[in-house]
Formats: sequence, C-alpha cells, structure tokens
Amino acid sequence: MYSIMIIGDNMDDVAKRIEELTELLNKANIDYYKYDNPTITDQEYDKYLRELTVLEEKYPDLKKDNSPNARVGGAVIDEFKKVVHEKPMLSLSNVFNESEIIQFDERIRKEVSNPKYVCELKIDGLSVSLLYQEGKLVRAATRGDGVVGEDITHNVKTVKDVPLTIKKTIDIEVRGEIYMSKASFEELNRIRKEDKVTLFANPRNAAAGSVRQLDSKVAASRKLSCFIYHLPNPEDYGIKTQEEALNFMSDLGFVTNPNNTLVNDVSELISFVENWTKKRDELPYEIDGVVIKLNSLEGWEKLGNTVKYPRWATAYKFPAKEVITKLTDIKFTVGRTGQITPNAVLEPVLLAGSTVTRATLHNENYVRDLGLKIGDYVTIIKAGDVIPAVIGVKEERRTGKEKDFEMITNCPVCGSKLVTSESGIDHYCSNKSCPARDIEGLIHFASRDAMDIEGLGERIIEDFYNLGFIKTIPDIFNLKRHREDLIELEGFGDKSVNNLLDSIEKVKGNSLEKVLFALGIRHVGKKTAKLLAKYYKTIDNLINAGEEELTNINDVGEIIAKSVKEYFSNPDNLRLIKSLKDLGVNLNYLSGSTDDKLAGRTYVLTGTLENYTRDELTKILEDLGAKVTSSVTKKTTGVIVGDKPGSKYDKAIKLGIEVIKEENVEKLIKW
Ligand code: IVH
Repeated sequence: MYSIMIIGDNMDDVAKRIEELTELLNKANIDYYKYDNPTITDQEYDKYLRELTVLEEKYPDLKKDNSPNARVGGAVIDEFKKVVHEKPMLSLSNVFNESEIIQFDERIRKEVSNPKYVCELKIDGLSVSLLYQEGKLVRAATRGDGVVGEDITHNVKTVKDVPLTIKKTIDIEVRGEIYMSKASFEELNRIRKEDKVTLFANPRNAAAGSVRQLDSKVAASRKLSCFIYHLPNPEDYGIKTQEEALNFMSDLGFVTNPNNTLVNDVSELISFVENWTKKRDELPYEIDGVVIKLNSLEGWEKLGNTVKYPRWATAYKFPAKEVITKLTDIKFTVGRTGQITPNAVLEPVLLAGSTVTRATLHNENYVRDLGLKIGDYVTIIKAGDVIPAVIGVKEERRTGKEKDFEMITNCPVCGSKLVTSESGIDHYCSNKSCPARDIEGLIHFASRDAMDIEGLGERIIEDFYNLGFIKTIPDIFNLKRHREDLIELEGFGDKSVNNLLDSIEKVKGNSLEKVLFALGIRHVGKKTAKLLAKYYKTIDNLINAGEEELTNINDVGEIIAKSVKEYFSNPDNLRLIKSLKDLGVNLNYLSGSTDDKLAGRTYVLTGTLENYTRDELTKILEDLGAKVTSSVTKKTTGVIVGDKPGSKYDKAIKLGIEVIKEENVEKLIKW
C-alpha cells in the first residue's frame, strides 16, 4: 500500500516525505489504538518509523510537532512542576445501589425537567488534564488535590491515544483518564516477576506509577492508554450537551469511550448500570463503576458544584467482590463469652464503597490453614458482616520479610491463661470477670427491655467493641465522635449512621426504670427497676437510700436491697452514673413513661383466653401500669374477651365500652 520513497537531498522532497510519513504513522496509530482496526502491519509500521527517524535526525528542523517520535520518550525531568488548574478538577460523588441512583435522579428533577443522562464507564485509572494551544499539546497535568496538580507532559506525550496535535488549530483543555489495559498490566507484572521486582497491585497503580516517573522512557515502555470524557469550557465552542461535547472531542482526534450512551430516563439508566455490572469483566480494561452525567449543560449551570463534586453527575460504584491489601498485624480481641478472635489489621483499602482496615480471622486454625504471615498480601471479601473476612494469601508476593503468626497464650485484656475448647479450635480467657466481658454488659444496656437503642444490636455492639468504638457504656453516647468512621463501614451509609445516632440521642430521655435495669445491677430485673424508680423518683435518692429502707418497698427483699447498696457503694459505678448525667442521660422517673403506657387505664377480662392464663395477662397489664378489675363499670377502659365470654361482655356492649378481642391484645401490650 505504501512504498519507501527514494529521495535525494532536495529539501522540499525531504519536508514532503517527513510530512507524509508523520501523517501515515499517526493515522496508523489512530486506526490501531482508537478504532482497534490496524490498517498496516507492525513490520510496515516499524519500517516507516525507521525511515522517518533517519530523516528527522538528519534534518531536525524539519521534524513535525506531531511526529510519532515526539512520543518515544527520552525527556527526563528533574522534578514535577506544579500546575494550577484553571478550573478545579472535581471528583465525583458516589452512589452504591439502585435506590441511591433514583434519589440522584430525583434531586436532578427538582431543577431540570425530563433530564437525560450520558452514561459512561468509570475507567479505573488516573485523571489527566490536557492543554492544547493552537492545536498542539502543550501541557498534561495530574489532578493532584484538584486545584494544584503536577506537570506530566513528558510522560503523557508517550501515550499513543493522546494526540500531539488535534484537527483544529484551537486552544482547548480536555480531561480524561489514563489507564493501563488488563493485557499490558499482566505483561508488565510478568516481566517484573522475572526481574524479581515488586509487582503492581492493579492496573491503576501501574498506570499511576508510570506517569509519575521523571524519565519518560519508563512511561513509554508501559503501554498506557487514555479515554477523554470531559470538556471544562464547553461554552467556548458553542456546545450545549455532554453528548455533543463527547462527539466534538472525538472529532478533534481524541479517543472517547465507544460505550458512552445517552439514556432518556432513570429506568434506561439502571439498565445500563445492570448491563455493565454483568459485562465489566469482558472489557480489555478495568472499570470500577458507571459515571452518570446530566446531558444538558444548562442543567450543569443550574445545579452547580459543591467544593468537591459537581451536582450534575455522580459515580455508581460496583461492589468490589474482593480486594487485595497488606496484612500489617494480627490483633486479638476477646468476645462477650471470653472467646479469643484473631483480627487482621490491614493497610486501608476500598472495598464495596467503604474503607476497610480490619478483617476477621475467626480462630487460630483459620490463620494456620491459610498459612498467613504478618506482612503478607491478602485477599479480603465482604460477606454480609460489618467486619470483612480474609479469604486468601498472595504467596507469590512474599518478599521473605514476612513474620510467622504466633498464637497468644494469655488473654490480651487481663493477662489470664487461655483455655482451649473441647474441639480444640477456640480459645477462651479463663477469667470469668475479665473486663473484656464488659461487652455482655453493653449488649444488655442497649437491649430492648433495657435502654432499647434501635439499631444497636448484639452483633453491632460486638463489632464496634472490636473496632474500639464502644468499650464502655458512656462510649455509646459518645459514638457520634466516630460518625465519619462509621459511615465507612459496610452497611452503614450516611442514613443508617444518622438513624443509629438519633436513636442513641433519643434514649437519653428514657425514664429512670429503664436506666436502672440497663445498668445490670444484680437481682434488679425489669420489675424491680420499676418499683425502685417509682419509689425513689431520682437516682440520687436511690443512691442515698439505706438497705433497710429499701426492704420497706413491697417486693424488695434483703437480697435485692443488699445488691443495690453494694452496686452504689462501688466508686466505679458512681463514676459511671456521673458520666451518664454529664452526657445528658435522664436519671429521673417520668410518669407516663413507655413502661407506663397503660397507666390510668382499667381493664376487665372475660371468657377463655387462648394464649395467656388470666393471671399472666393480668400481670402484663399491671406491669404496664393498668388496673385489672373484675366488674365492668363506666370507668372501665376496655373489656378483653376470650372464647365464650360471660355477662361482662354484654355489659360492655350496653355501656358502650371498648371490646378488645384476644388477637388485638398483642397491640395493646406492645411497646
Ligand atoms: S467525570 C467533573 N467521567 O473517576 C467531572 N470521571 O471518582 C469529573 N473517572 O476523578 C470526572 N471515568 O478520575 C468522569 N467517564 C468518566 C470517568 C471518570 C473515570 C474518574 C476520574 C474522577 C474519578 C471520580
């Protein structure tokens, strides 16, 4: 198709041939890299490149700015120059599920009617700003902190997808993503393994490591690619939509992603997301989500940006199934039964939208079976628990500096000897009053019959204890200090953390009997707590009560009185009460409290009840503050009727008193 021209030293001929070869090779590059459709063989390409190189070396003045040799790499810089972005390079907010996508669309709809979106693949690389003056690439920069980045022009010039000159001699800035294909990444790591140099963890790290090289030969050897997806100043070119911007940039010679799709509504948008969630592995490069951009640029103006993100776009992040990170230590925790659990301390890593720093290792055998050493690279997954699990070791990434795992023999909290379960698998602290068992007290404190903190169940308390967020009762009320950390945890978005913190705030207003029961004073059950609260009204009165005085209360015997006195003579417990007071927890009896939900009401029972004996139901109603009487009068609040009711039922009807069937009793007594 093409032939080598035999030329003399006629300067016009030389200039013409250089131009011809430059264009021919650039076209071949575009066909190969942009359209994935090679039009000349590799041998031909090399032959023309050699011819051009010889001519350029002989006549350097005739070398074109967009010569493919301008990319080869050779430029070495001393340090990265700082670059101030003319417009900040913003990042994107994230959404993680369908309902968050719908919420995003709803927020947009408040400002823009019938919004259309451009869905783009979220390329897992590093963002780059490319600046062209009069059609020539003059500067490439990293995002940096969004305001100031680093000049990486020398390296970016080696990226084949980045045009050195564009089709129009205009000034323009475009932004996109530099990335490494899966194939180039595999090949690079294969060679690095042979050379016994540290492997890159993923293509993104490899790409980032390549553009941050002072010597551009390194980047040139790394086979990087680039998709362009953003035009920061569309108004300069009369562009009105993201779709137009992408087409405009593609026409100028930039590589845009072929899968960019304009969708008409949120259901098409969700289909795009679902489709690529399934197909992501088929792509030759890694993506970590889908970027959703409002198509109308007028809408961009209306919605504006926060300091960090545009409000007109968001990124749907795929749930990462598993990630690899470094195990920096193994720490042991003691559960509420005294059971010892080894936990992986990890180099922070993003997994399914949250930063993971800990993972469970279950027990000693689990660690031994994995053959885990400290310093290993490990694979971790989220398995529906708050704390993820380590599931594998990357033995091939060992350096020889890893340390063997050693099982402990004494409790990490109280130092007591550990005992092994009969199965030989689990280890327990032998000290029945090991402080770590406080966890049991925390679970009781938050439980339904006690403070009733919605969302702070057994499992979460155990996890928060192991993560160090809640070690003592006051820590529960200080949990808001860890708000940011909590949001990062699996299953704890902004909303659920707010809900949890709200329920913690709410229970501060509980009546005294709930706090008394929650403290876990020996022999003080729910009923006794109520009696004490009703009688003494404030915790201070109770603290000051003498043992004998306590026994004066009906149903409070010597054993309970002694235990209460003992509890309040312990300075640790008094300190706890003071902390609770300081934290704003109510310590007074509130009449009409939840426990008293039936206070002032009078009920009559009649007929045979299926689920309760008369005595049982009477007790339940009385515990809730109601009176249970035997005859129906005008003052009766309701008559609870079972099977074959007697005359009391007739009387209730006659007096117009509420009749409550047994199936509705549950509703009445639930709180
Ligand atoms: S748009 C204001 N589009 O994702 C526009 N970003 O998590 C901001 N990314 O910093 C960027 N593919 O590095 C955009 N099609 C795409 C993208 C994309 C990958 C990266 C980019 C950005 C990060 C945000």
